[in-house]
Amino acid sequence: MPLSELLPADADRLIAAAAVAVGYVGLCGGTALGRLRRRPADLRDDIAGGVTVVHASQTGLAEQVARRTAQSIADAGHACRAVPLSALDRPMLEAGGRMLLVLSTTGEGDAPDAAAGFARRLLGSEVELSRLQYGMLALGDRSYRQFCAFGLAVADWLDHSGAEALFPTITVDDGDPEALARWQQALAAAGLDAGPAGRPWIEAAPFGPWRLVERRQLNPSDAEHPAFHVAFRPEKGELRWQAGDLARIAVPGEPPCHRDYSIASVPEEGRLVLLVRQARAPDGTLGRGSGWLTEGLAEGGSANLQIRRNSGFHAPAGDPPLILIGNGTGLAGLRAHLAARAARGIGGAWLLFGERRRAADWFHRETIEDWVAAGIVDRLDLAFSRDQPERVYVQHRLRAAAADLAARVDAGAAILVCGSAEGMAPAVHAVLADVLGADRLERLAEEGRYRRDVY
Ligand SMILES: Cc1cc2nc3c(=O)[nH]c(=O)nc-3n(C[C@H](O)[C@H](O)[C@H](O)COP(=O)(O)O)c2cc1C
Repeated sequence: MPLSELLPADADRLIAAAAVAVGYVGLCGGTALGRLRRRPADLRDDIAGGVTVVHASQTGLAEQVARRTAQSIADAGHACRAVPLSALDRPMLEAGGRMLLVLSTTGEGDAPDAAAGFARRLLGSEVELSRLQYGMLALGDRSYRQFCAFGLAVADWLDHSGAEALFPTITVDDGDPEALARWQQALAAAGLDAGPAGRPWIEAAPFGPWRLVERRQLNPSDAEHPAFHVAFRPEKGELRWQAGDLARIAVPGEPPCHRDYSIASVPEEGRLVLLVRQARAPDGTLGRGSGWLTEGLAEGGSANLQIRRNSGFHAPAGDPPLILIGNGTGLAGLRAHLAARAARGIGGAWLLFGERRRAADWFHRETIEDWVAAGIVDRLDLAFSRDQPERVYVQHRLRAAAADLAARVDAGAAILVCGSAEGMAPAVHAVLADVLGADRLERLAEEGRYRRDVY
């Protein structure tokens, strides 16, 4: 995924990971107070009567900050609840009250996947919100051109609709603790005590030393775009993460930088596995992060690594059947989900994987064939784009299997997409929208049944 290596250091840290465009996080999980799924009228009463903290999150940070905010405010004695943006409708907003919004931006200035429906239905529409007071915390990253675009667009729309800002919008660059401290101060100034100053709004695991225990090229006959299996064990401490999480690697050098990668394994396998594409700039220079991981770091050497929770790409609760779609190194995120299910003997996953050539690029073939034999994977579709005269990609396989896709989703399956944000993810999205209907796809995203980790 050379893209990540060709962007400025700060940008690819977000991208190299599996990061992505639109997954979801929201509707699942509890709330600060009470149940989440309630009749709209109840929610309207709450919003009018207390403080509502609203979140829209792709990878989970906004949701985490929102839940903590709601908890602190509730602890201080105010009625307060956290809800996903997708739970709001026009009457609720018009009913007024106090609302705190924690909204992330993803893609290229886009709403998180689970908020796409809200953006389409409400944003920009005519509403009368003079009874609404709001405070906005917009999460983003300055290395993207459209810094905090989604949060800022929602704030603009609220202003134009007559809502009153409790304080000027606070933008947060890459989880900047100072900006988050300003959030706390703003809440306090607005009469919403949010606990003692300096509380961490974002919980992050510490960096620690991990030993490189195995590295091999997965496609030795492919000189053009080598991909590596890279495995680590912690030098101290335990292996702890969930399928969907990311590993952030601190790349030594001047200046320091880091890269995120989807973790391809689960702790039960005893090692943290990455699938790393070695990137080269047009002049032949090795990508900084991928070059270090695939050549620079010696086997037996130590990397400074941090586990990054990526709840937007965790499996939905209840282990529903899965439809796993990905290409290239995106297989990493999908492999972790399959390994998690294999460890617990859960079948019913359909894997669609695409790469260039079967003979060279069929990563993790043996493991996946074992999972097929064991029923963990009950349908496998492979798209090797260059094995025939015409290009064939996962989206073509998906469309050819439209009936099965619809049947599985009707039966409760969730769809997880991991891999390239250019080409694959939009093409797969288009097929899904076509086969299932755009509205239904939006609802699946809101319910956490359509999750993406694309980069
Ligand atoms: C693929 C990807 C695209 C992103 N695009 C933008 C963007 O256009 N503008 C921006 O300000 N931040 C962008 N970000 C940064 C996120 O907004 C930032 O990481 C945020 O903290 C994520 O919060 P979340 O976990 O709630 O989704 C992007 C991040 C990723 C991974």
